[in-house]
Amino acid sequence: MTERTAKLTLDDGQTIDLPVLEGTEHEKAVDVSSLRKSTGYITYDDGFVNTGCCTSTITYIDGENGILRHRGYPIEDLAESCTFTEAAYLLIYGELPTRPEARAFTDRLSEHSDIHEDMKHFFTGYPSGAHPMSIMSAMVTSLSTFHPTVRDEDWTFDETAARLIAKVRTIAAFSYRKASGKPYIYPRADLNYASNFLNMMFSGDGEDYEINPVLVRALTRVLILHADHEQNCSTSAVRLVGSSRANLYASIGAGISALSGPLHGGAAQGVVEMLLKIQADGNDVDKYVAMAKDKDDPFRLMGFGHRVYKNYDPRAKIIKGACDQVFDDLQINDPLLDIAKKLEKVALEDEYFVERSLYPNVDFYSGILYRSMGIPVNMFTVIFAIGRLPGWIAHWRESSQDPEWKIWRPRQIYNGAVARKIVPMDER
Ligand code: SDX
Repeated sequence: MTERTAKLTLDDGQTIDLPVLEGTEHEKAVDVSSLRKSTGYITYDDGFVNTGCCTSTITYIDGENGILRHRGYPIEDLAESCTFTEAAYLLIYGELPTRPEARAFTDRLSEHSDIHEDMKHFFTGYPSGAHPMSIMSAMVTSLSTFHPTVRDEDWTFDETAARLIAKVRTIAAFSYRKASGKPYIYPRADLNYASNFLNMMFSGDGEDYEINPVLVRALTRVLILHADHEQNCSTSAVRLVGSSRANLYASIGAGISALSGPLHGGAAQGVVEMLLKIQADGNDVDKYVAMAKDKDDPFRLMGFGHRVYKNYDPRAKIIKGACDQVFDDLQINDPLLDIAKKLEKVALEDEYFVERSLYPNVDFYSGILYRSMGIPVNMFTVIFAIGRLPGWIAHWRESSQDPEWKIWRPRQIYNGAVARKIVPMDER
């Protein structure tokens, strides 16, 4: 809160002084909490484009300058120097772990990596083409049926958070193995987070399978890059559902569902499907850029544009570099990377994209990197969910620690029929 106020003068003669809030990065907001009680008016902001729903100490984004920091640490440093579990610990608990804290956290993840054997029956119930994000959302929400203590007062947040982070990786790998008709591979306590995931996904595919350290490093970085992003659609969904005091599993299940949308986390799948289409269409990049600009054409450049970034998404820059490094180290050649780079170049030189500040976002190159790891397209958003989970958990915890934690219940402007009487059906 600052001493400053904003004066609102309404054309019906009312005026009100509203408090001005200023954050540690000097973002400013007009606090309208008292507006309706004092004037009868509410504010209106379709899609919450200009509305802050909370204060937070977890993540800061400067969209104009392409800056992303978690608890004050630049994303570039975290992606370069940390493990995914370190970054997860930082987001949830506010500080990077000491060595004993990191060990205890890793041990807790290992302890909770298996899923209840009865949950394996869930997988046999899904049709073969079931999307793994639908499975993930249902399985995560169902975890509360296997761990009912979450509803009791004495349930411990730490156990539930660790259980979620450990089990989503297993659920994801099991859903891939089931969809591929392959036997499940169980988590191993001797492997780090990313290695365990790759091992559960692919190690049964042949005696000579080896966990590739280059891919482990790349996957670790990508998970960190997805770990949190302020009040994006899915994180706000987690806060909203949690505000009703729904348990953490149910709140995360809602976040997974929100992330599955093609305008949000589903974009990585959309990018690769778009690049495959351009490839099949003779690599005619100009044609697709023209379609993206055509208002009569619903086609959009997937992986481009962002509600907050009006500059290059810093995460996209790092993932693009990771693609180059992995492809170079492993001598991989994926024509989709060349098409993506050409598409980016054409778009960034085009007035339409420049004047709208449309740049590649986190999803533009991530799918190409996942392809190099052998991850199928329909699993791309699942990887995003695994990465984003610590952020969702951190925001849920931050909400729950607010002494004023109130249920979210936005208002609306009603535009429907005014009061009227029911007439008998034969007179309608
Ligand atoms: C994620 O919020 C987050 O932080 C999300 C995320 C996270 O980490 O959680 O960063 C992850 O969701 C990244 C975004 C993934 N989605 C996509 O890549 C889908 C393609 N992008 C667009 O759908 C769009 O850019 C959004 C949804 C991402 C943002 O849309 P906005 O902020 O609502 O912007 P807008 O629709 O108002 O667009 C402004 C203008 C419009 O043109 P005009 O009406 O001004 O003429 O830009 C145009 C739009 O038509 N535009 C695009 C475009 N994105 C916006 N035109 C062509 N291709 C695009 N991709």
